[in-house]
Amino acid sequence: MTATPLELQDLAIEIAREAGELARRRRREGVSIAASKSTIADIVTEADREVEELIRTRLAAARPDDGFLGEESGGDNGTSGITWVVDPIDGTVNYAFGMPSYAVSIAAVEGSRDPGEWRALAGVVSAPMLGETFRAALGEGAWLDDERMQVTTDAPAGALLATGLGYDKNTHAGDIETLTRVMPLARDIRRIGAASLDLAFVAAGRLDGYFERGLKPWDIAAGRLLVDEAGGRTGWFEPDAFGRSLAIVAGPALFEELHRTILG
Ligand code: IPD
Repeated sequence: MTATPLELQDLAIEIAREAGELARRRRREGVSIAASKSTIADIVTEADREVEELIRTRLAAARPDDGFLGEESGGDNGTSGITWVVDPIDGTVNYAFGMPSYAVSIAAVEGSRDPGEWRALAGVVSAPMLGETFRAALGEGAWLDDERMQVTTDAPAGALLATGLGYDKNTHAGDIETLTRVMPLARDIRRIGAASLDLAFVAAGRLDGYFERGLKPWDIAAGRLLVDEAGGRTGWFEPDAFGRSLAIVAGPALFEELHRTILG
């Protein structure tokens, strides 16, 4: 079943908005933590599972031959060559604490299931509490409502950067050391708590750049296409001693500076 990137994008928008509304409704009714994952701080709520189930069901009905890779329910391969990569609630800790910075992230990719190698065709990041849906289709630009998004190209007062610290306490010292090295480039630092929104905000020019180790494919699948289509650069680099790949995201000049500063 073939489809253009724009058709895939439109399907993702429709499903992401419905999924975001479900997440919002469930949050109003009260959150229950279903389990911890990699560490005690790395949680999954009942809503994460329910929202992923909704997305998976809708995608399977619309495109039964496609593969699926989701944060909570794993994956299957499909036969069309297209895989949907889904984070039902990115920013789960924000969600659990009642903070508005969480988003549904849905991407359609083709080729490999490795974010360093796949080709993203469509990506949508929908933030129900912000009332915003960021979207991109390959070759069609990145958009927020009717506005075409564009990354920043200079930051005369220093770059407004975002980063994240993982859930594993053993990795915090190294990440803080990296942050110390990056600070001379920065105007200030943000820790938004949802990687998909960090990427969407770089695409929208609300942040100049973003870097983080240890992200998973579903955290960045949609956001990377937003940044690429907004004229930025995204890199996914070799794992560190803890097996955590490094993502760097920024406009072209700042990307080079961050790369030099972090990886030498
Ligand atoms: C997390 C968020 C967070 C990032 C973590 C991710 P989740 O995703 O994107 O900002 O620092 O590495 O795991 O668990 O909320 O879907």
